[in-house]
Amino acid sequence: MVRAVRTIDGVEALRVVGGARLEGSVRVPGAKNSVLKLMAAALLAEGTSTLVDVPDILDVRIMAELLRRLGCGVEHDRAGGVVSIDVPDEPSHRADYDLVRAMRASICVLGPLVARCGRADVALPGGDAIGSRGLDLHISGLSALGANVRVDHGYLVAQAPTGLTGTTVRLDFPSVGATENLLTAAVLARGTTVIDNAAREPEIVDLCRMLRRMGATVEGVATSTLRVDGVTKLHPVEHRVVPDRIVAATWAFGAAITGGDVVIRNGETGHLAMVVDKLEASGAAVSELPDGFRVKGPARPRAIDVATLPYPGFPTDLQPFVIALDAIADGSAMVTENLFEARFRFVQEIARLGAQVKVDGHHALVRGVPQLSAAPVEASDIRAGAALVLAGLVAEGETIVAGAQHVDRGYAEMDVALRALGADVVRVVLPEYTYL
Ligand code: UD1
Repeated sequence: MVRAVRTIDGVEALRVVGGARLEGSVRVPGAKNSVLKLMAAALLAEGTSTLVDVPDILDVRIMAELLRRLGCGVEHDRAGGVVSIDVPDEPSHRADYDLVRAMRASICVLGPLVARCGRADVALPGGDAIGSRGLDLHISGLSALGANVRVDHGYLVAQAPTGLTGTTVRLDFPSVGATENLLTAAVLARGTTVIDNAAREPEIVDLCRMLRRMGATVEGVATSTLRVDGVTKLHPVEHRVVPDRIVAATWAFGAAITGGDVVIRNGETGHLAMVVDKLEASGAAVSELPDGFRVKGPARPRAIDVATLPYPGFPTDLQPFVIALDAIADGSAMVTENLFEARFRFVQEIARLGAQVKVDGHHALVRGVPQLSAAPVEASDIRAGAALVLAGLVAEGETIVAGAQHVDRGYAEMDVALRALGADVVRVVLPEYTYL
């Protein structure tokens, strides 16, 4: 296959000097995967909703722009971590392709818009760096609630001019996005909706909490059966975003991989039970603190086997960090990806740093080596980018991770936080960069 070659001026990258040991304290802000959905949920009530402890990341700015285009007034105090969303009486209902393409999570306006406006036109996201993620469960669920859903000129159009009606929806798979769209649609539907085999990630619990505070009736929160009794109207609220467990775990892996000692403030081990078990199995010491937890890494980690699963299983978003740890661990391990196979694209990049990884279908066999060796690499998505940065910390020499914008989508100034932990990581601009 011939692929287009694009040479781009001024690609941002992170330059990582190997040999670091992360030491110090870092604070975890609210979760990306929650705040985006909470911002969308604000559409359900006219008036001003306010979100607190919002991370200063690119995806929040994209969602703010999407809400503005829907007619909302959005104020974003980036330094203070506060977003206020003023929702009009009649928001518009179209999410444009340029924004959905930039951030697939834009699909989460689907539920709130159908519920509130009786119609949503949301561009289909198209290709995604971590695999073809279907929307069939979103579509069949909304159809069961009485929406007429079709694809029209690249847009998913859902219509329910006379409102939605509650029913029982049994998801084939506990999809996070489908559970969220069904929840946010059901809260304003007539009657009772039961979502069976629902996802129960902490970010969904956070969404349920905000919806309840807005006046919704949601039972079964944190279980896989959610029961929603529809109401006719919701009201705006102020809500604090749940801490980002994936960012917290990123710092935990940073400590484990570098033999460091990091205090992760505002991190909740309660949301990371399986992850803590695995870190301890690698030889790290994890201890609870009043405002977070502390991770002390071993001199060299032991290899850990991991299989990703929906919550409370091991999160797929942390899979690249496991591969990075196993790459320099004592021993060999099997990493199984059960959610997004294309996350293994990361393997090709970490292999450039000397990692020994063999992929067979959705399994990766990693043979630990004592040290990696620096090279230029490319981030294909948020977590792959962050994991390459951590791998760079234990690679001899200077690793350049191109595509810093991917990292910015989920981490607020990762380079600044890493410098505060004693690492030599800076942002650089590559004058000319060729993408394949
Ligand atoms: C969310 C998270 C993402 C995380 C994932 C799983 C956000 C913005 N993103 O993504 O970081 O990795 O949960 O924890 O919150 N699927 C279908 N049909 C559907 C819906 C999903 O086949 O209608 C499949 C997907 O292709 C994938 C799996 O289900 O293989 C999981 O997807 P889902 O749980 O929906 O993840 P997202 O909500 O996209």
